[in-house]
Amino acid sequence: MKLILLGPPGAGKGTQAKLIVDKYSIPQLSTGDMLREAVANGTEVGKKAKAVMDAGNLVSDDIVNAIVSERLDQDDCKNGFILDGFPRTLEQAEALSVMLSEKGLGLDTVVELKVDDEALVERVSGRYTCGSCGEGYHDTFKKPASEGVCDRCGKSEFKRRQDDNAETLRTRLMAYYKETSPLLGYYFAKGDLKSVDGMGDISDIFNAVDDILKSV
Ligand code: AP5
Ligand code: MG
Repeated sequence: MKLILLGPPGAGKGTQAKLIVDKYSIPQLSTGDMLREAVANGTEVGKKAKAVMDAGNLVSDDIVNAIVSERLDQDDCKNGFILDGFPRTLEQAEALSVMLSEKGLGLDTVVELKVDDEALVERVSGRYTCGSCGEGYHDTFKKPASEGVCDRCGKSEFKRRQDDNAETLRTRLMAYYKETSPLLGYYFAKGDLKSVDGMGDISDIFNAVDDILKSV
């Protein structure tokens, strides 16, 4: 299964990607996570990306295309992958198309998560993740079963993202509507786009996504 999860900041791409990983045992390729790791490790890519990400703008296509291409070469991507947060510009989409054909990899589907703007603000402002395994939570919508303890790994350290504040979210949303939303038309025209109502419960949305995955 080779798919792209498309949607604005806070739409639930990471949340749904983790459920797909659990069911299909294919890796989640989140460019946001890869870039945050590069920032945390102080690599050259991280140094270039930090200020751009903190401001809510998009990192350059060259940087992001290179990290995705390198990641796709790893063995665990041979049987499938979930692209979460990539591509995000038409240039990235074209670059992806070229890299997939050069690597002999196809693309099964592109799943759009459709979520109202007000809900995005609410989701992003309440988000936190386990500092150890990365499991995602929300102050209201997805609390750990036992307060302060990660459901997945049992650790008790959580973190919040630096770009999850109202001002930066505005910039991220602008970047989405300006740079990324044209990809909906691009993939629709290619016949790859499937849209899912992302406004329900996490498990109902997963069932809708999974119905699509079973049909491709
Ligand atoms: P990235 O990390 O990709 O952030 P994003 O696209 O802004 O998306 P988010 O991760 O914020 O949201 P999500 O859709 O994953 O939602 P989640 O599942 O966590 O990118 C960050 C930055 O990196 C960018 O701004 C840019 O600078 C850079 N970057 C990354 N990729 C790039 C690229 N390709 N090109 C250039 N720059 C790039 O859910 C959010 C919250 O809602 C969680 O708390 C969750 O528990 C909750 N939630 C989820 N689903 C539901 C539901 N159905 N109901 C209620 N709550 C829900
Ligand atoms: Mg995410």
